[in-house]
Amino acid sequence: MCGIVGYIGDKNCLPILINGLKRLEYRGYDSAGIGIITNGDSVLIKNKGKVSVLEDRVGEMNLEAPLGIGHTRWATHGIPNETNAHPHTNEDKSLFLIHNGIIENYRTIKNELLKLGYEFASDTDTEVLVHLIDSFINRGNDLCKAVQLTLNEVIGTYGIAVIYKSEPDKVVVARKGSPLVVGLGENENFIASDVSALLAHTKQIIYLDDGELAVVSRDGYKVKTIADQEIEKEIHEISMTLEEIDKGGYTHFMLKEIMEQPDSVFNSMRGRLLFDEGDAKLGGLSDVTNRLINSERIIISACGTSWHAGLVAEYMLENIARLPAEVEYASEFRYRNPVINSNDTVIVISQSGETADTLAALREAKYRGALVLGVCNVVGSTIARESEAGVYIHAGPEIGVASTKAFTSQLIVLALITLLVARRKALSADEGKLIVNALRRLPEQISHILNLNSSIELLANEFKDANNFLYLGRGYNFPVALEGALKLKEISYIHAEGYPAAEMKHGPIALIDENLPVVFIATKDSTYEKVISNIEEVKARGGRLIAIASENDDEIDRLVNHTIKIPDTVEMLRPILTSIPLQLLAYHIAVKKGLNVDQPRNLAKSVTVE
Ligand code: M6R
Repeated sequence: MCGIVGYIGDKNCLPILINGLKRLEYRGYDSAGIGIITNGDSVLIKNKGKVSVLEDRVGEMNLEAPLGIGHTRWATHGIPNETNAHPHTNEDKSLFLIHNGIIENYRTIKNELLKLGYEFASDTDTEVLVHLIDSFINRGNDLCKAVQLTLNEVIGTYGIAVIYKSEPDKVVVARKGSPLVVGLGENENFIASDVSALLAHTKQIIYLDDGELAVVSRDGYKVKTIADQEIEKEIHEISMTLEEIDKGGYTHFMLKEIMEQPDSVFNSMRGRLLFDEGDAKLGGLSDVTNRLINSERIIISACGTSWHAGLVAEYMLENIARLPAEVEYASEFRYRNPVINSNDTVIVISQSGETADTLAALREAKYRGALVLGVCNVVGSTIARESEAGVYIHAGPEIGVASTKAFTSQLIVLALITLLVARRKALSADEGKLIVNALRRLPEQISHILNLNSSIELLANEFKDANNFLYLGRGYNFPVALEGALKLKEISYIHAEGYPAAEMKHGPIALIDENLPVVFIATKDSTYEKVISNIEEVKARGGRLIAIASENDDEIDRLVNHTIKIPDTVEMLRPILTSIPLQLLAYHIAVKKGLNVDQPRNLAKSVTVE
């Protein structure tokens, strides 16, 4: 959630830290700060609000330093203000510490430290770390040892970076549950919570694993466990480019990412379609294909938009591959004592690959002997590395907090997994070819939908002042209704609910009046006639109707106030098309309300705390 960046080397760290924090701001954006050590002096600058405020203050101070750490915060303990912002420091300001995660036993540690005479400035859980490190240094330990001893006492999750005025030749970082990478340069090295902060400087990356600590200096690095065992780490070459994480002329990352979907969807299936066989080729699953197809059951676990992708996959796997499938919120799965057998396959879906609840579900499923597969976007992310096997969605970096292109790419990969299994079970080559050909047509069909952008913008104008929205769909389009509602509420702050269309009469119908916009996803599929009846029911009660409909459907126009017509595809792939107008609708409503669509209030891109 929070962003962490740090530098040690020959250059002035300040522009590196500020630019790194700007790259990380999507991870948390309620306050920001930096701590630097320069010429035997330590300087701390922090504030509530954006990195741009910090940048202005740093600019006025005209500072230079070879060593520093920076942080952008998403508050867990203590309101967003200057005192609660990171870095946190000790009494003589010789130590600076930044933290992502939650220290669960901070009250116990704090009480012990209070007894020792320590005073606390902030309401955060983090501050105990810096005072505890200070107390170990005062007992004769160096910085690295003091960090190790501190972390031995801590229960919770952390990615931390610490610098110390008396040891200005190093940054000490450690992780448990929150991502941290070390970036390697010449006469300089970097640390960050996310490679995007380092892309301008290096592509050589080391991923720390849970329970590991690194001492990073200008000329090198040493990785060991918290328990002090040295470890050799692999150096990874990052393929992501700076252009991929820029707005590329768009006003918002979200719009750029929506518009990228013809390409991102293509990239998700590139090299993975077998046209002649009507099959899919997924290198990441080659070692486990037999175990996957012989699974008795598939359990999918994820959060938010990724959970919605899982719901679509449940329909795909059951309808096409004839495999029983269940979908679980990762946050519930981990505490529910789920029944998991060694014949089950658990698929965890996560754009970021760092979501704490999804990671915990993965670990629980592994512990219980299931085959665990990861479907992730971020290469090298924790979930990707801890899964036994998996498939990257290759959607490219997604910076907007509202997930868009990752959702459609997740659906592509889940369709490919379904095809792979189905072709080894009951699906004929001809049926497989129909799906492969439909997949191949998707990028062009998505471009066609994106051309409707300006008419969807006009629609947004009409509906931007609504207080509530209802989204209804059936079958494959039921999860799309949920996703449409989530998109709208998270960026426009309009209350929205998604329901299976037929459930409407069991309660939500009471909400319908002339003020309630009702969005039906009503493509011509197996439940079309039933959905039309539901539309009639809303119309009879005066609801304002919008329909996402098939382009050859002329009937529906007489029933609804507005239609968005989209091209047709096979039923299992329809959510990839029907979700896109809903992304655009949410986007334009939020923009028209003057809201920050890329960084909506209270949210963060990657939820690394419970
Ligand atoms: O990175 P993940 O896919 O694991 O994230 C899961 C959710 O936090 C995420 O999808 C969230 O719901 C998005 N903000 C939705 O747009």
